[in-house]
Amino acid sequence: MKLFDVYPLYNVTPVKAEGVYVWDENNTEYLDLYGGHGVISIGHSHPDYVKSLSNQLHKIGFYSNSIQNPLQQELAQKLGKLSGCENYNLFLCNSGAEANENALKLASFKTGKSRVIAFDNSFHGRTSAAVAVTDNKNINAPINLQQKVAFLPLNNIDLVIDELNNGDVAAVIIEGIQGVGGLDEGTSEFFQQLQKVCHKNGVFLILDEIQSGYGRSGQFFAFQHHNIQPDIITTAKGMANGFPIGGVLILDSIDPKYGMLGTTFGGNHLACAAAISVLDVIEKEALVANVNDVYQYFLDEIQSILQVKKVKGKGLMLGVEFNFEVGDLRKKLIFDKHIFTGGSNNKYLLRILPPLTVNKAQIAIFINALKEILT
Ligand SMILES: Cc1ncc(COP(=O)(O)O)c(C=O)c1O
Repeated sequence: MKLFDVYPLYNVTPVKAEGVYVWDENNTEYLDLYGGHGVISIGHSHPDYVKSLSNQLHKIGFYSNSIQNPLQQELAQKLGKLSGCENYNLFLCNSGAEANENALKLASFKTGKSRVIAFDNSFHGRTSAAVAVTDNKNINAPINLQQKVAFLPLNNIDLVIDELNNGDVAAVIIEGIQGVGGLDEGTSEFFQQLQKVCHKNGVFLILDEIQSGYGRSGQFFAFQHHNIQPDIITTAKGMANGFPIGGVLILDSIDPKYGMLGTTFGGNHLACAAAISVLDVIEKEALVANVNDVYQYFLDEIQSILQVKKVKGKGLMLGVEFNFEVGDLRKKLIFDKHIFTGGSNNKYLLRILPPLTVNKAQIAIFINALKEILT
């Protein structure tokens, strides 16, 4: 059997990883400023994480959601405390798309409506409703196009109000900071107006923090830069440092009902052990403070590169926009300088999503590599 060939691949084969570095089969070292699509939060193979997962595996790896699993409560309690979202309840699932799928389903159950407002250039996943609210026709099959979605530009509240006035909207879904789309984001004013008009119309505001959450933006969740309280928050990627998991944080005024949501694998013992260990390390190593510190250094240093037009995003969720397309630059960074970076829908933009443990010296290596390639 061969693999179903859906991924264009770089010719690199990582076989080992530690902290902010990965090594290929020839023992070549790469600086990882991409974290495998923003997944590695506490650094590759963090010793506490490895210990916690191994210990858990020796005890019990999995049982279904029909028994007591105190690890789920521990995870919910720690996540509430560290994120400052103690007035939310947690539903655990297995991926970002599944988290958004459940968030949209919950909004639809509760409002009895089915239309969704999403934004231009959004990315919310590849399954049923999640892909339907993703602004990319190429990854929507006819079966997905049955969903009713309006795509609007960011930062235009009047257009949102016009759509809400139709009276058929269940939810507005928006990324804290757009990831795949290219690091654009709503202004604080827009987020605040959005909350207000959603509230007024009985529509759920869903904040997709799957990429921008878990400290990456310099706050635990990116929406916390804007002083709002979403009805639902979705999270995945950095949540368990590579162990598959997703989470839906649901405001505690929204009542659950048995059977309303569910999953076989979601919230299993191993996933919880991984996610608890991530929160412990984020707290113990003060990683959110490190994000802000390294971000400031990044901004100061990147100014010395004249070809950079703009830096988008916040914290360690950054887009460096150049005055040329970056495809070749990314290849040179990987193959000549041994540095991983990411791309996005914006062909002029390098996406930088390092582990939150990255330090200034490692950013300096990147800046010097850029200078050498560009001069
Ligand atoms: C903002 C956002 N939402 C949802 C997803 C989908 O997550 P997953 O690939 O885990 O299904 C992604 C993945 O890139 C994302 O960036």
